[in-house]
Amino acid sequence: MAIRVTPLHPHLGAEVTGTDLANPLGAEEFAEIERAFHRHAVLVFPGQPLTDDQQIAFSRLFGPLETSPEYAGSKKSRLGRPEIADISNLDPEGRVMTAADQRLLFNRGNQLWHTDSSFKYVPARCSLLSAREIPPAGGETEFADMRAAYDALPEEKKRALDGLVVEHSIFRSRSLIGFREFNEEIGRELPPVPQLLVRRHPGSGRKTLYLASHASHIVGWPVEEGRKLIEELIAFATEPRFVYQHRWRVGDLVMWDDRCTMHRGRPYDDTRYRRDMHRTTVSDELNSVERERGTAAA
Ligand code: OGA
Ligand code: MN
Repeated sequence: MAIRVTPLHPHLGAEVTGTDLANPLGAEEFAEIERAFHRHAVLVFPGQPLTDDQQIAFSRLFGPLETSPEYAGSKKSRLGRPEIADISNLDPEGRVMTAADQRLLFNRGNQLWHTDSSFKYVPARCSLLSAREIPPAGGETEFADMRAAYDALPEEKKRALDGLVVEHSIFRSRSLIGFREFNEEIGRELPPVPQLLVRRHPGSGRKTLYLASHASHIVGWPVEEGRKLIEELIAFATEPRFVYQHRWRVGDLVMWDDRCTMHRGRPYDDTRYRRDMHRTTVSDELNSVERERGTAAA
């Protein structure tokens, strides 16, 4: 089978066909997928109804997987695999959650523009989302290209942003939607972390913004001033010209590069319709500030 890569948008996103992700990939086949990933940042693989084991095996080709704690509500996990994040509106028994369920509110935080795990010291490299059940309307996912957004900034702005460090925290993004009921250990395990605002995307060598709803403020700046800059940059970087919207079909596997894109889920009637998505998340190697300092010292 020959792999076919078809771009979906001028900046980011490509559909990949002619491969079967349920079975081990040959080295050349994987290299082709990786090349497409570095270039297009979002890859859509239609017609890949993977089991959790198959999804985990394919994801591991890109690096070590993150494991997800239960951030809110019952500690009981529906899927029972620490490598699979439950991106659904279903409770541990598999029923649609009620509006009162804290986990539903927490998950709605995914509807803000973000980058996965930017609140972790070593954040995510890429995420892979597999559509198991989808609602009849809404529930699309949008992706914005932070490299294209950076390129489009005026030179003067680029110079002003260079070297700025941003503090990221899961408490920031969830406070934006009024969520406070974190499980106790989350506060201890996830203190705020520093991330560079502008960095080089290793896959393409291009410079990129690094933004997220978890971005709280600029280190060394008055908090409100930093928030204003972050909000302004997020609004710019998510203008429609930088955004690809994905409409899901059951069996789609979509993977995105968390180092150079942002994404958000779009609303749907989440107390009525089922939406069941399973996510694996590949961890990056280093914190970006650490990486930069390592380079500076060399
Ligand atoms: C995610 C995410 C959005 C969506 O899985 O990381 O943000 O549309 N998903 O489900
Ligand atoms: Mn996400």
